[in-house]
Amino acid sequence: MKNLQLANGDQMPILGLGTWKSESGVVYEVIREAIRIGYRHIDCAAIYGNEAEIGQAFSDAFAAGELKREQLWVTSKLWNDAHIEKDVRPALMKTLTDLQLDYLNLYLIHWPVVFKPNIGFPQSDDGYLSFDDVPTIETWRAMEACANEGLIRHIGVSNFSVQKLEQLLMECRIKPAMNQVELHPALQQDKLKKFCDANAIYVTAYSPLGSIDRPDVFKSDNDPTLTELDAIMEIAAEHNVSPVQILLAWAVNRGTAVIPKSVNSDRLQQNLSAAEIELSADEMEKIKSLDQHYRILSGATWGGPNTLENLWDE
Ligand code: A2P
Repeated sequence: MKNLQLANGDQMPILGLGTWKSESGVVYEVIREAIRIGYRHIDCAAIYGNEAEIGQAFSDAFAAGELKREQLWVTSKLWNDAHIEKDVRPALMKTLTDLQLDYLNLYLIHWPVVFKPNIGFPQSDDGYLSFDDVPTIETWRAMEACANEGLIRHIGVSNFSVQKLEQLLMECRIKPAMNQVELHPALQQDKLKKFCDANAIYVTAYSPLGSIDRPDVFKSDNDPTLTELDAIMEIAAEHNVSPVQILLAWAVNRGTAVIPKSVNSDRLQQNLSAAEIELSADEMEKIKSLDQHYRILSGATWGGPNTLENLWDE
């Protein structure tokens, strides 16, 4: 497995397991199986509602001697209702308690969207706050303090545009190590990727398979089916692998981390082995032409002051 090396020498396995939509009652066995077959990077978030069960799986895997804590990369994310400076550390402590860990490898601001405290998901615009109420740098200062305390090894963001990263880079003391965004051949985000490369910020691709099992609220008629794109199917046939594996190999060959979700043991194995597939420059070029700048998770569900324009700054 390739790793991404961080500034302090830490190594992040380039392919990890996504856990959004991995339901309670299922996710425990998924994590145990993933660890057994060699996954060493698990991507979590408080809002996925399954961290306690994932934590039990980690704890049992450590107790069974399957791996040591230092062999596992764990990412989690601060939810939108805990952006106020005093709320960040308690949210992190809840995640650490649930995951049964004493530190995270990486903690991300999940969205550049702010809710009132303890709201989960707002039912109306009234549940939102603005960046005037809670500037991102306020949240970031609290993230930095948790990093300085040793509770988090690296801090980063998710769903941040170039413009929001520029602002954060101007104000931060600890630079963001990661920006986790939707990324797949139909949404390649070259400009953002180049900006991150130039500023030593790694990029993680979420929904690399187009989040096939996303809830209906996130579906629209025009959404592309990534596994059915001609170029993806052709390259898969040439390598004698599945289209899904080519989608994952594309992310890895591009130097982004990638976190496919699966709850199925065969598919877990298939996805892990995709990290070893080498794509030629011609194949990468062929996939480049599939870009439509198409967001499957558009962000349109956010209310309050969050328009699509000011969410993505485009
Ligand atoms: P399942 O969890 O039943 O395996 P994303 O990572 O883009 O959110 O996509 C997750 C979706 O892709 C889930 O529906 C998951 O189903 C499915 N999936 C994951 N791996 C594979 C695979 N190798 N082949 C087909 N579908 C897959």
